[in-house]
Amino acid sequence: MGLLDDWLPSSLARHGDPTRPSVTLSYAQSLDGSIALHRGEPLALSGPDSQKLTHQLRAAHEAILVGIGTVLSDDPRLNVRLVAGQNPQIVVLDSQLRLPLTASMLIDSKPHVFCVASASREAQRKLEQAGAVVERQSDPAAPQVELPKMLARLKQKGIRSLMVEGGGRVISSFLSENFVDRVVITVAPQYVGGYKALVLPLVVMPEIRNAQVKKFGKDYVIWGEVGRETR
Ligand SMILES: NC(=O)c1ccc[n+]([C@@H]2O[C@H](COP(=O)([O-])OP(=O)(O)OC[C@H]3O[C@@H](n4cnc5c(N)ncnc54)[C@H](OP(=O)(O)O)[C@@H]3O)[C@@H](O)[C@H]2O)c1
Repeated sequence: MGLLDDWLPSSLARHGDPTRPSVTLSYAQSLDGSIALHRGEPLALSGPDSQKLTHQLRAAHEAILVGIGTVLSDDPRLNVRLVAGQNPQIVVLDSQLRLPLTASMLIDSKPHVFCVASASREAQRKLEQAGAVVERQSDPAAPQVELPKMLARLKQKGIRSLMVEGGGRVISSFLSENFVDRVVITVAPQYVGGYKALVLPLVVMPEIRNAQVKKFGKDYVIWGEVGRETR
């Protein structure tokens, strides 16, 4: 069964929760589960074939989400330049509006940036001038962006599918709050011994049902749906 032409469309179509978009978690890791050597530094793990797959996956989703940690370290553009297709709507979790006005994503997109109630109004004004759409959450006690409200807001805006690309803290939040419907993980056959995909112990340990694997160039891509009974 092909990942992109068969499994992903039918898996996205099966999504049954009307309150939020369907969520695909996708990132690249080493054999030991590292996504970077040091937190806050980019590390190229995927080869050209799996990178192209990542861009195809982006094009198959309506939105793509990263944490501000990834923006500050990698300065990603999060577009689909390696393939034909539409760029997804960019979403950034950025409680205190630290997104730099020089971020590459501001050049050719209008990211939706979620922040908490206490975030600077001045930073909001500057980011909006630069093209971002700032979504301020209302709970004055929340230290970070609240995922359930953020996901409900995206759904309200008409976004039905969301690809979550990282980094470690965001991956950990989505898994620990049980918001991952499926995963597409690139495993690069190398050891790194660095910053891991999971930075929190999980209470519920999601299992991937009927996981499939295929070689893309030098890398192995594993995909499957998160088992419903573990949620
Ligand atoms: N190999 C890969 O596929 C891959 C992909 C992406 C990133 N990375 C690597 O991952 C590293 C960055 O990871 P990271 O863990 O430092 O940063 P991250 O997960 O990208 O961003 C984490 C930050 O997002 C903000 N945030 C707001 N609401 C949140 C919530 N509910 N849950 C989690 N985070 C929330 C927090 O900062 P505030 O409190 O300031 O909002 C938090 O510190 C970099 O080294 C990057 O190269 C690797």
